[in-house]
Amino acid sequence: MVASDELSPIQPLRWEQGPDGPALVLLDQTQLPGAETELVCTSIPTLVDAIRRLAVRGAPVLGLVGAYGVALAAARGFEVADAAGSLANARPTAVNLSLGVRRAREAYESTLKDYAERHSADSGDAEDPQAFREAAAAALAAAQLMHRQDADASRRMGELGARLLDELVPGAGGLRLLTHCNTGRLVSGGEGTAFAVALALHRQGRLARLWVDETRPLLQGSRLTGYEAARSGMPYTILADSAAGSLFAAGEVDAVLIGADRIAADGSTANKVGSYPLAVLARHHGVPFLVVAPESTVDLETPDAEAITVEQRSAHEVTEFAGRSVAPPGAAVYNPAFDIVPPSLVSAYVLDSGVLVPNESQEWRISLPSVVQITDG
Ligand code: MRU
Repeated sequence: MVASDELSPIQPLRWEQGPDGPALVLLDQTQLPGAETELVCTSIPTLVDAIRRLAVRGAPVLGLVGAYGVALAAARGFEVADAAGSLANARPTAVNLSLGVRRAREAYESTLKDYAERHSADSGDAEDPQAFREAAAAALAAAQLMHRQDADASRRMGELGARLLDELVPGAGGLRLLTHCNTGRLVSGGEGTAFAVALALHRQGRLARLWVDETRPLLQGSRLTGYEAARSGMPYTILADSAAGSLFAAGEVDAVLIGADRIAADGSTANKVGSYPLAVLARHHGVPFLVVAPESTVDLETPDAEAITVEQRSAHEVTEFAGRSVAPPGAAVYNPAFDIVPPSLVSAYVLDSGVLVPNESQEWRISLPSVVQITDG
């Protein structure tokens, strides 16, 4: 496929103001790469179901869905507090989801409060429809602001990550990067997180190959990263997750790039299951292991790995493949959606605000925004 991403950028979600009221339109990621199908969401249960089924997924875009979801509830006159609760709880691990919900809800509620204060002298009606219209507009503006900020964050991560790799892998010609899960335009208001770094290098002619873990059980790597890499015209190769070891052993990996669903205050990083073995392999083979995420994924209220809730998903995702059973009926299944990578295995965190690298004593406490180190500017 030679289509260029520049010509037809992937849009994982958009707000649509239709004649029958507003809708949040999602590109259904469960159908990719076979079909580019849109899901038109006009209710909160539809949106929550789309999040749970992974029709929309990936931390930064979940933040946007959370914010637009609150805006949708407000614009359609649904109970905003209820909508916010169900959206924030649709999936537990990606901190961006609850953050997006919170930002839009705060905008909504503070606008209602301001309106009430401005009109307190009026004899007026507490249920003034104008107050709710203004509050709904404020929630939408908050979602749109997050959308723009996420696009800016992607750009910064792409630039900083590409620059950091120059320092970490000096003298290499084209870089051979290994990535896991899906971290490109499908998960972002811009070009993504880890994938944005690979894309920046590709544009500079410095990407020799993107190794794409297929990412069992739901194949976000082969289906989604493969789709994005092909559209971008990148040299890419898909491998079974279990083939990564022999690839490292053959000296074919210059660096590993992953995204994150939540980075705890001590640097513990939740990301798609399969990330931890890659971090161990990378350490064993002396290969840099980079976590690329917007600062909004750093959650200082979560102190460490133990405090991160790892989503456990349904057994059928493991016992079935493409709708066919691949295990005996009733087989017990272990299906965590995420791994936690300890900070001791991370070579650097590439955030939109800068790059954090370990100090000599391997202390990793992240205390943003004041302690962002090096390579910013
Ligand atoms: O279960 P998913 O597909 O939502 O998991 C997504 C990931 O683990 C991504 O790597 C993570 O959200 C980072 S996306 C920038």
